[in-house]
Amino acid sequence: MKKLLMTVLFGSAIVLGACGGGGDNADKNKGGESGGTENASAAEDIFQSNCSSCHGSDLSGGAGPDLTKVGKKHDAKEIEDIIHNGKDGMPAQTQVSDKDAKTVAEWLASKK
Ligand code: HEC
Repeated sequence: MKKLLMTVLFGSAIVLGACGGGGDNADKNKGGESGGTENASAAEDIFQSNCSSCHGSDLSGGAGPDLTKVGKKHDAKEIEDIIHNGKDGMPAQTQVSDKDAKTVAEWLASKK
C-alpha cells in the first residue's frame, strides 16, 4: 500500500515536473496563433489541474465561487494568499508551487 502511494506521488511529480520545466508541447502547438499568451496558457494549465474541480473549467464556479470577475475583488497578491492559505470553504492548495501560484494569481487578477 505504501509502495503504491509512493509510486503514485512520484509519478505525478514527474508529470508536474515535465509540464513546469518545458511547457513545450501545448505552448508550441498554439504558438503561432496566440502570440503573447504563453503565460496565460501556462496559468490556464495550472488552473485546470488544481482549481477547475471546484471553480469550473471555464471559471464559472461549482463547489467554489465564480472567478470570471475575481480581478475586481482581489489583486494578484490576495489571490496568491488564498491559494497558499485557503479561505473559509477553500482548503489551502499546498500542492501548487509558489511560482505556479503567482502565475495563476496574476492571470486571475486580470479577469475583470
Ligand atoms: C476543494 C475546492 C477548491 C479548490 C480545489 C480551489 N478552490 Fe478556490 N474556493 C473554494 C471555495 C469553496 C471558495 C469560497 C471560500 C469562501 O467561503 O469565501 C473559494 C474561493 C476562492 C477565491 C476567492 C473568491 C472570492 O470571490 O472571494 C479565489 C480567488 C480562489 N478560490 C482561487 C482558487 C485557485 C486559484 C485555486 C487553484 C490553485 C482554487 N481556488 C482551488 C474552493 C476551492
